[in-house]
Amino acid sequence: MFTPQPIGFVSSPFKNTGEIPKGLGAQHKEEGALRVLPEFEMGLTDIEGFSHLIVLWEFDRAENFALLGTPPSDNRPHGVFATRSPRRPNPIGLTVVELLRREGCALHVRGLDMLDGTPILDIKPYLSSIPAEELRRGWLAEAEARHKGRATLGAGEK
Ligand SMILES: C[S@@+](CC[C@H](N)C(=O)[O-])C[C@H]1O[C@@H](n2cnc3c(N)ncnc32)[C@H](O)[C@@H]1O
Repeated sequence: MFTPQPIGFVSSPFKNTGEIPKGLGAQHKEEGALRVLPEFEMGLTDIEGFSHLIVLWEFDRAENFALLGTPPSDNRPHGVFATRSPRRPNPIGLTVVELLRREGCALHVRGLDMLDGTPILDIKPYLSSIPAEELRRGWLAEAEARHKGRATLGAGEK
């Protein structure tokens, strides 16, 4: 296996995990920058043409991994590989961000869900070719349906 080295670091408004939106319906609209190290700048050539990027990064402040966990979006446990938990055997995060502009080594982006100073492992253009109707959302779809049902019930009870 290779030994990963950061290609850069994230400048994010989030200084602690409690500030990052979580759970059903959470939206990630925060802006910040992917600051690529100067020795990798040539690798950004032609990146400006892409609207969205996949960022692979390290959960550098995660605790030990747990194979089962209850995510903030559900009240039932799920396997780590069926979730986006930070507590993974290989603590690698993946976030799709919108590229707003490039300034030299800095990619200004929207949609961050990682802490300030998070090490970046890789950046790739986002090119999804899977039609929305072919995507299955597993346990998350069930959790969303239960949540929606409770919200409707609550509204009806008023
Ligand atoms: C649920 S994970 C999802 C991350 C990514 N979108 C993914 O799917 O891999 C996002 C959470 O990871 C935690 N987190 C963010 N940056 C982190 C870091 N550098 N180290 C450890 N935990 C982090 C925060 O609690 C944040 O709400």
